[in-house]
Amino acid sequence: MTALSQSRHLATEIPGPRASELLERQRAAVPAGVASVMPTFAVRADGGIIEDVDGNRLIDLGSGIAVTNVGASAERVVAGVQEQVAQFTHTCFMVTPYEGYVRVAEKLAELTPVDGEVRTALFNSGAEAVENAVKVARAYTGRQAVAAFDHAYHGRTTLTMALTAKNMPYKHSFGPFAPEVYRAAGSYPLRDGLDGAAAAERAIDQLEKQVGAENLAAVIIEPIQGEGGFIAPAPGFLPAIVDWCRANGIVFIADEIQTGFARTGQWFACEDEGITPDIITTAKGIAGGLPLSAVTGRAEIMDAAHPGGLGGTYGGNPVACAAALGAIETIEAEDLTAKARRIEEIAAGRLREAQQKDPRIGEVRGRGAMLAVELVDPETGAPDAALTGTVAAAATAAGVITLTCGTYGNVIRLLPPLTIGEDLLTEGLDIILDALAAA
Ligand SMILES: Cc1ncc(COP(=O)(O)O)c(C=O)c1O
Repeated sequence: MTALSQSRHLATEIPGPRASELLERQRAAVPAGVASVMPTFAVRADGGIIEDVDGNRLIDLGSGIAVTNVGASAERVVAGVQEQVAQFTHTCFMVTPYEGYVRVAEKLAELTPVDGEVRTALFNSGAEAVENAVKVARAYTGRQAVAAFDHAYHGRTTLTMALTAKNMPYKHSFGPFAPEVYRAAGSYPLRDGLDGAAAAERAIDQLEKQVGAENLAAVIIEPIQGEGGFIAPAPGFLPAIVDWCRANGIVFIADEIQTGFARTGQWFACEDEGITPDIITTAKGIAGGLPLSAVTGRAEIMDAAHPGGLGGTYGGNPVACAAALGAIETIEAEDLTAKARRIEEIAAGRLREAQQKDPRIGEVRGRGAMLAVELVDPETGAPDAALTGTVAAAATAAGVITLTCGTYGNVIRLLPPLTIGEDLLTEGLDIILDALAAA
């Protein structure tokens, strides 16, 4: 197969004729609850391009929501998968184990910022990893309560919906939710104006008064909140929360499902915060697009769950493990943490320049290749979700896959594959900024 040309190309409107037919079939066969950002269908993807069924080549600034950090057909991932699939597809690690699983666990022990002796259990999705991290923390502490934060996103299963903050679309009409989940205010410097120490003091006070430290099994937080709006906490917030957890025997879980695997310019975002979690949950970027997730934690905590207590039919599937080993090797060989930092240099610079001229850009924030623009009413600073929707729709129509996020729906987020070409990245940014200028 010829290489996928790394250039944007619009052969038709989006959706084109083939995509329109498929959309009709989707409507007839797939429930409305499973909605898609793009009104078209992929046939190929590589580097910074996704090609659709009508021959349109779209600039990918989403990576399938922070998954294809190494690209959507990275050579080492493809080769690893092909080799493994020809050997065997599945035995079930709980029945007949295989080396790939152990190698992924060894690699995570080496790479994750968890101190001391470390263990890893593998699962299928991010939500499943979070569920299992909570199970392990409860088994270890003998306590039940779990605290999450405002603007948190941890998934869509019953427990993780309870941990997730935003009602629409994630929770609305799907209750009741799992019990013993509590929420504290986090740190959102643009909107709360608090420094890290003050924000941590507020959160700790809420948890002490409303839950009681002695009842808490775990505190879970994303080191940069993803779906909530790419909110980086004020410096010092996370270290203060970790210190309080340590002082009170509470397991600190860093949810690095979106931030992990070179996305923020380090292997894991915790590294920039100077914190070492007790448990770290990972998924998304771990396996170059195959479904895999991990719970990596201090051995004494992870070993608290009884034999047979953790697992699942497909958890750590051998093909997904081969993909993970290929993705990890790619990040190492191609120095993709440096590439993420270079993406920040290019993109944040350009966005900040635009901010100087356009007061509707309330804030440019994020780290590495996890960057966001929060759009606001220049007079009041109020979130402007309508403008955000208009800009994303115009950029999408021009062939740039543009994702939004945020509790208030007013954040444009950039999550390009780390392998995107610099010209393509710049072109994609220009199209988004032109769409903003025209809105
Ligand atoms: C921080 C975080 N945690 C958990 C999840 C859930 O992962 P999954 O969709 O694989 O269940 C996500 C997904 O967006 C996420 O960003």
